[in-house]
Amino acid sequence: MKILGIETSCDETALAVVSDKSLIGAWRGKPLKVEVSTVLSQIQTHEKYGGVVPEVAAREHLQAMGPMLEKDIPFDGKGIDAIAVTAGPGLAPALRVGVETAKTLALLWGVPLIPICHLEGHIYASWLPRAKRVLPFLPQPVPSFPALCLIVSGGHSELVVMKGHGQFERIGETLDDAAGEAFDKVAKMLSLPYPGGPQIARLAVGGQVDAFDFPRGLLNRDNLDFSFSGLKTSVLYTLRSNDEKLDDEEFRKNIAASFQEAVVDVLVRKTMRAAKRVKPASIVLAGGVAANIELRARMRAAGETEGIDVFVPPLTYSLDNAAMIAAAGYFRAQDEKNFVDPLDLAADSNLDIV
Ligand code: KG4
Ligand code: ZN
Repeated sequence: MKILGIETSCDETALAVVSDKSLIGAWRGKPLKVEVSTVLSQIQTHEKYGGVVPEVAAREHLQAMGPMLEKDIPFDGKGIDAIAVTAGPGLAPALRVGVETAKTLALLWGVPLIPICHLEGHIYASWLPRAKRVLPFLPQPVPSFPALCLIVSGGHSELVVMKGHGQFERIGETLDDAAGEAFDKVAKMLSLPYPGGPQIARLAVGGQVDAFDFPRGLLNRDNLDFSFSGLKTSVLYTLRSNDEKLDDEEFRKNIAASFQEAVVDVLVRKTMRAAKRVKPASIVLAGGVAANIELRARMRAAGETEGIDVFVPPLTYSLDNAAMIAAAGYFRAQDEKNFVDPLDLAADSNLDIV
């Protein structure tokens, strides 16, 4: 079975074709095969605005979509069994480009259409193959259920229990900023370009993680929710009261390292608190912030201590891409109930995973 995935929820135009080598293989827990995966980033366009402008994103998706389809996807849809498209959440004008493209192709090729929640897609990145494997001759394991998923992206920070394919229950969420948003805002305070996550991570290398004692939001509350706005404000006040040091590289590195430490600390400790309650068979890290090397390492180490398998997405599929959307579509395609009439589908910027 071959699935075409389409993703346009934010500032990446992405197309992918994912297949199972054999149906049995995928169901037995082998990863899917990525036949094609292309991502066209609009970062350079949005950089000058300091964030993503929805209408500009939509225009760029429109310009990119035709040539990308022509280059990477068989024009008659030959061999494609279904189309999976991100239907939300995301920027409405941007989502619409992907959704309308998917509807048109589904009608043209006469194949089923499957709407996918972007957050579900991020989780399914852990069902995609890794480039580097310790034991390449052994099958790559995939998460087993129930899986405790930490979704951390530019718009979301959530703890979700995945009981089976397509079955989700939310047990925690952010009360204010998302983790990625906090990275982006602190980067802006340090005059670093958008998106801020990778910039902060780079700056933090060699910085002192305990140079500043930034607050760990809600860590002492007995719940599974997150809050990053207090941390963001604390960084702002620290920068304001040290404005003579704003160009001092060591000071900047210490701010970045201490900030990143506070975020990672909260994310890992709350996930482990959730694990004690849920007793999952695996932990899955998902979303753009899952590209953070420190978070990946600390989550893996915490899982090892607790004896729980931790799955971090391959770095290539941590940020927005369409292979993860096609992977989610592959599992949804096993049940016809998940097919929708192309004439009925509309993008939903608030689409929820549960
Ligand atoms: O999932 P994603 O690509 O887009 C959304 O669905 O939002 O996530 C983007 C977010 C941005 O906030 C970006 O700053 C953050 O992920 N990010 C990182 C890193 N790479 C991307 N945050 C921390 N460390 C990174 N290495
Ligand atoms: Zn995303």
